[in-house]
Amino acid sequence: MAESGSRGVASAKNRVLVIDFGAQYAQLIARRVRECNIFSELVRHNITAAEVKDKAPLAIILSGGPASVNVENAPQLDKEIYELGIPILGICYGAQLIAQQLGGTVGRHEQGEYGRTTMSVSADCDLLEVTADGATVWMSHFDRIQDLPDGFTSTVSTPNAPVAVLENPERKIWGVQYHPEVNHTDGGFELINKFLTDLAEVKSDWTMDSVIDSSVAQISELVGDGNAICGLSGGVDSAVAAALVHKAIGDRLTCIYVDTGLMRSGETDQVVEAFETNQKMKLISVDAKERFLGKLAGVTDPEQKRKIIGEQFIRVFEETAKSLPPADFLVQGTLYPDVIESGTSATGTAAKIKSHHNVGGLPDDLSFDLIEPLRNLFKDEVRRVGTELGLPDEIVWRQPFPGPGLAVRIIGEVTPERVATLQAADTVVQEEIAEAGLYRELWQSFAVLADIKSVGVMGDERTYANPIILRAVTSDDVMTADWARLPYDLLEKISNRIINEVDDVNRVVYDITSKPPGTIEWE
Ligand code: XMP
Repeated sequence: MAESGSRGVASAKNRVLVIDFGAQYAQLIARRVRECNIFSELVRHNITAAEVKDKAPLAIILSGGPASVNVENAPQLDKEIYELGIPILGICYGAQLIAQQLGGTVGRHEQGEYGRTTMSVSADCDLLEVTADGATVWMSHFDRIQDLPDGFTSTVSTPNAPVAVLENPERKIWGVQYHPEVNHTDGGFELINKFLTDLAEVKSDWTMDSVIDSSVAQISELVGDGNAICGLSGGVDSAVAAALVHKAIGDRLTCIYVDTGLMRSGETDQVVEAFETNQKMKLISVDAKERFLGKLAGVTDPEQKRKIIGEQFIRVFEETAKSLPPADFLVQGTLYPDVIESGTSATGTAAKIKSHHNVGGLPDDLSFDLIEPLRNLFKDEVRRVGTELGLPDEIVWRQPFPGPGLAVRIIGEVTPERVATLQAADTVVQEEIAEAGLYRELWQSFAVLADIKSVGVMGDERTYANPIILRAVTSDDVMTADWARLPYDLLEKISNRIINEVDDVNRVVYDITSKPPGTIEWE
C-alpha cells in the first residue's frame, strides 16, 4: 500500500495553543476557544519553547490533567515557555503547575473538591466580573495550591481551595483551579473569552468565512495545475471536503459516487442533485447495484458481507479512477478529532497517513497526495462550512450512515426484495423523525430488517411476516450511546405506517439497548 503525504489546510494566523496534560476536557477547551471565534490548536505537554515560538501563538492555555504535580514523572511544561512573554492561562493541573514551576508549593489536603462548589472573590480579579462572587463553579482536584510564587496574588477562593485563582498581570500569567470550560461553571465561557480577547488581546477573526477563504487559497496553491479526485459517500464530511476543493480548483476535481444498491431510498438522486445540478461539480455516479447484490447473493455472515462490500468498493473506485485523466491528489474528509486521536500533527505540516483509512482501501498502484481540508475542524464547524458553501440541509445535517449501507441492517441474506422492504420502512422512519423535529437531536435513527417471522392478524387474515426493528440512539462521541426516549405517540405512528405501507412486515419492535452492551448497528 502506497503511503501518501497529507496536507491539511484551514489553520489561522491568530492561533491559541491549548497544551494538553492528559485532561478529559482538553478538546473541550480547544472548542471553547473556537467559540470565541479564535483558532485553537491542541498540542502535547512536551512541546518545547522553541516549538512554541515557531508556532507564534498569541496565547496559551494549559489544560487540567489526572496526575499530581508532586509525583515523579509528572508531566511538566518546558519552563522557558513562561519566559516567552505569551499570555498564559492554566486550568486545574495547569494552574498548579504554574504555581509549582514558578516557585510556589502545591500540597495534598485531606479533602479534595469534586463537582459543584461556590467561589468567593476576595479582591479585584482580572478574569472575572465583580458579580462573580458566590457563583457556582465546577471543581475536580485533590491537590491544592498552598504557597503562591513571588509576584502572584490570589483573588478567589472556594471552601477547599484557598487559591482558586492566581494572577500575575505583569507577567501575563493567570491560573484557575476550577474548570471554566464545562457548562456547569457559571461564567466559564466569559472567563475564557476575557482571557483571550481582553487580557491577551487576541482578535476574534476565526469565522467560517475566513476558514473558507484561507482553505481555498491554500488548496489552489497546493494543487497548482493538477487534478484531484474525491470519493463521495453522501455523508457530510466528504461532501464538505469536496465542495471546498471544488471552490478552489473547479472542474479539475472529479467526484466519484458509487451506488452500491445499499443506499437509503432516494439517496443517490439527492447526491446527484446536490453536487452535479446545484453545485455544478464533475460527478461520476457509478451504478454498481447489480454487481454488489450479485456478490452478496447467498451470504449471511456479517463480516463476510462487509468484506465483499469493501472489496467491490475498491474495485469500482479503481476502475473508475483509471478511466479518468491521472489524478495527483485524493480528497479526504478527515476531521480534527481523528487527527488528535491518531496523534498526528494538527498543524498542517505533512503527516504520513495511509490513504486507505477513509476510503475503505485503495489499490496499491494508485498513489496520491492527500488533501484533507477539514483536518483542523470539529464536526459542528464542518457543518457551518457546508452551509456557507451552499450545501443543502439534507446533506449538511445527515446522520452518520455506515459504509456498507443497508447491508448491515438486513439480518441474513441481502436480496433486492429485502433491500426494497428495508428502504420503504426506513423512509417512514426518516420522515416521521423529521416531522417530529427530532432528526438533528438523534445521533442515528433507522430501521433494521430481521430474518425471523412472526404470526399476526391483519383484517381477518392470519399473517406470517418479518418484524422491523426500530433503532434510535443519542450519543456525543459514538463510543457510547443510549436508546432514545421517543414519545409513545411517535412510536405508534411509525409502527402503524410501517405495517400499513410496507409489504411483508407485520410487526414493529423498538430496540431499548444502550451501547455498551449493544452496538448501534445490528451487524
Ligand atoms: P457500532 O454499530 O459499532 O457503530 O456501534 C458505530 C458507528 O459506526 C457506524 N458503522 C460503520 N461505518 N463502516 C462504516 O463506515 C462500517 O462497517 C460500520 N459499522 C458501523 C455506525 O453507523 C455508527 O455510526
